[in-house]
Amino acid sequence: MSDPVRVVVFGATGTAGSAVVARCLADERVAEVRAITRRPIGVKHPRLVDIHCHDFSHPESLAHQLTGVGACFFCLGTSRRRAGSAVAYREVTLTYPLAAADILRERSPEHTFVHLSAAGAGRLPLPYARVKAEAERQLGGNGLRRLFIARPGYIRPAGDRAGAFTRAVFPVLNATTPGLAITADELARGLIEAALGDAEGGILRTRDLKRLATPDG
Ligand SMILES: NC(=O)c1ccc[n+]([C@@H]2O[C@H](COP(=O)([O-])OP(=O)(O)OC[C@H]3O[C@@H](n4cnc5c(N)ncnc54)[C@H](OP(=O)(O)O)[C@@H]3O)[C@@H](O)[C@H]2O)c1
Repeated sequence: MSDPVRVVVFGATGTAGSAVVARCLADERVAEVRAITRRPIGVKHPRLVDIHCHDFSHPESLAHQLTGVGACFFCLGTSRRRAGSAVAYREVTLTYPLAAADILRERSPEHTFVHLSAAGAGRLPLPYARVKAEAERQLGGNGLRRLFIARPGYIRPAGDRAGAFTRAVFPVLNATTPGLAITADELARGLIEAALGDAEGGILRTRDLKRLATPDG
């Protein structure tokens, strides 16, 4: 087995990012988790380092924290409504991952970059899908050694993060249309297996992520 790696998680306080952090901390292939956040992550663990960033469009001040990284999970993201404007949505969805990828490419050239995009990117004629697709295209062209683009459908939050409606509806959705939704934990396992595995990189859809998440996947 190869040596345990240092991983970096952007968006570590969110539904997807917190699941990735939890899974990485339970994984002996991971030596250290560096969570890049704008507020305290609220989790203590000897292998977890919480690093605050004040400007994700210019994360240069973090550069020294991004050396020796084996895998980056970019789970930071927002919706058009939460961002407040189309311009702000574009900045979070496009500028932030590209800025992170630029620094990681320079500081950790051997790393694997795992980007959390969304189902529908490049396919649906919706503003979110167009910006996600643009981020995918630009990341694909920016010289990263190994890149996975994950395009999950709906992500079911873990435990208490899920509301009563989600808890009731998810099992039905999952049973009837398994390619549409995934739990945050399955997603995290799928992303980690992809990053730490041998495959070349590429697009990971919900079904691919579920397959990777199963022990013999
Ligand atoms: N949820 C889904 O069903 C779903 C489905 C497909 C794809 N996705 C994609 O997956 C990614 C993660 O989704 P999620 O559901 O985990 O989102 P989430 O729970 O809302 O978490 C988003 C994360 O990004 C951070 N963030 C948001 N805006 C930021 C900003 N302006 N500056 C710095 N940090 C910011 C949040 O930090 P704070 O905690 O500090 O706010 C949080 O850590 C997104 O790109 C989303 O498009 C989600």
